[in-house]
Amino acid sequence: MREHLHSCAHPRTYYIRTFGCQMNAHDSEVIAGLLEELGYKRALTPETADLVLLNTCCVRANAENRLYGHLGNLKPLKEENPDRIIGVCGCLVQQPGEEEKIREEFPHVDLVFGTHNLHRLPALLAQLEATKSRVFEIWQEGEREEDLPVRRESPFKAWVNIIYGCNNFCSYCIVPYVRGREQSRRPAKILEEVRALAADGVKEVTLLGQNVNSYGKDLPAGERIDFADLLRQVNEVDGLSRIRFQTSHPKDLSSKLIRQMAAGDKICEHLHLPVQAGSNRVLAAMNRQYTREHYLKLVEELRATVPGIAITTDIIVGFPGEEEEDFLQTLDLVEKAAFDSAYTFAYSPRKGTKAASLPNQVPQEIRMERLYRLIELVDTLAKKSNKRLEGEVVTVLVEGPSAKREDIYAGYTRTNKQVLFPRPDPEEDLTGREIPVLIEEGLSHTLYGKVMTGKEETAHS
Ligand code: SAH
Ligand code: SF4
Ligand code: F3S
Repeated sequence: MREHLHSCAHPRTYYIRTFGCQMNAHDSEVIAGLLEELGYKRALTPETADLVLLNTCCVRANAENRLYGHLGNLKPLKEENPDRIIGVCGCLVQQPGEEEKIREEFPHVDLVFGTHNLHRLPALLAQLEATKSRVFEIWQEGEREEDLPVRRESPFKAWVNIIYGCNNFCSYCIVPYVRGREQSRRPAKILEEVRALAADGVKEVTLLGQNVNSYGKDLPAGERIDFADLLRQVNEVDGLSRIRFQTSHPKDLSSKLIRQMAAGDKICEHLHLPVQAGSNRVLAAMNRQYTREHYLKLVEELRATVPGIAITTDIIVGFPGEEEEDFLQTLDLVEKAAFDSAYTFAYSPRKGTKAASLPNQVPQEIRMERLYRLIELVDTLAKKSNKRLEGEVVTVLVEGPSAKREDIYAGYTRTNKQVLFPRPDPEEDLTGREIPVLIEEGLSHTLYGKVMTGKEETAHS
């Protein structure tokens, strides 16, 4: 393999496919950064890459199934070019038994590493080249290294890790097992990164963690600040215009943080606050540590303190033991909270979690039936909230041409709603700019509008 790689006239190329959440996607950016430091160039397809890497997720069974389907499909690519490196990393490989499964059932996989040792990638690639045999290295824990290179997907939007891992152990969730315990980054390091991003022209940062509201609890006494304090400091960074964060746990969402959201001019009027269920019995069985009443009080406080805030959520239906009565409580809470949108999931048992071994699993048909009923309600509420914006002018950060049409731009409001609008001038690229858009139509998932030109603004004022 070494001879081949060194005799290559073209530079080595890589292709990474990401299966998971924002943290997983941001890990892919770090992995890409490490590879580019080694001289690798990005390939646009797996077929044209010397290194194909799958960054996996195991939060639900379908994420896992997609990965194994995909991995099987890579076999012909390995056969076609035995020097091509096929790698698997991310959350899935941290599960017990997964390493052996890949080793035995997928002999075309050359490289496996986990979530705690991604900084080891250059050393593992060197080992692979030197030994010409498969390299599997998974750590059960480890401190995330600072100052790793990052190859960001967008020049004007960036993810910034603030806390790794999770201590909550919601009874359905695999994340604490595959990501380890909470580890807050030093505030100075976070601010240094955000300042560098702003200096580089980044407009929007999203602070990432499984539970950002736990930020700081594990910091050394002299450096201990909480998440609200961190937000205040990030808000002071010049050059940024939008600050987002994800994810918040309702049990740790403080009034101080809500007030800070209102006080920080750059902090977007959007909160993703996963509720998971609307029945207190189910919430307790999920180990969520709050009640529906507490959640609804938070919603009320948020709406009263942060004008125009959009609230979105995650909901699981069909948790073990969930009765029709419990599910109706979820529908009721969704209606009362009037969510702007929601990610909805049918419960998926994860091996090793407490909920997976509960006796009263809900049959698949009932899970699906509840899921469809929930989606219908969520869509109705989303449409209602988007309809209210018709006739209003919103500020949109332009992402670029929409997925389907070059002449239609897509962007996001501060409330994290997607807006599509015709490109006003084919000569002028508005990508990365914040512009006023008049909303003409609001549907469940998208707003449609047109750019306000200077002229119209004068006419209206
Ligand atoms: N840390 C975040 C998100 C974790 S995973 C949080 O605390 O909210 C993202 C979402 O996946 C969760 O909010 C939950 O709604 C869903 N999820 C997690 N485990 C699941 C499971 N076993 N079955 C179905 N959905 C699940
Ligand atoms: Fe999973 Fe709960 Fe931790 Fe979120 S807070 S990652 S749902 S255990
Ligand atoms: Fe994210 Fe999936 Fe891991 S949701 S933390 S990539 S299990």
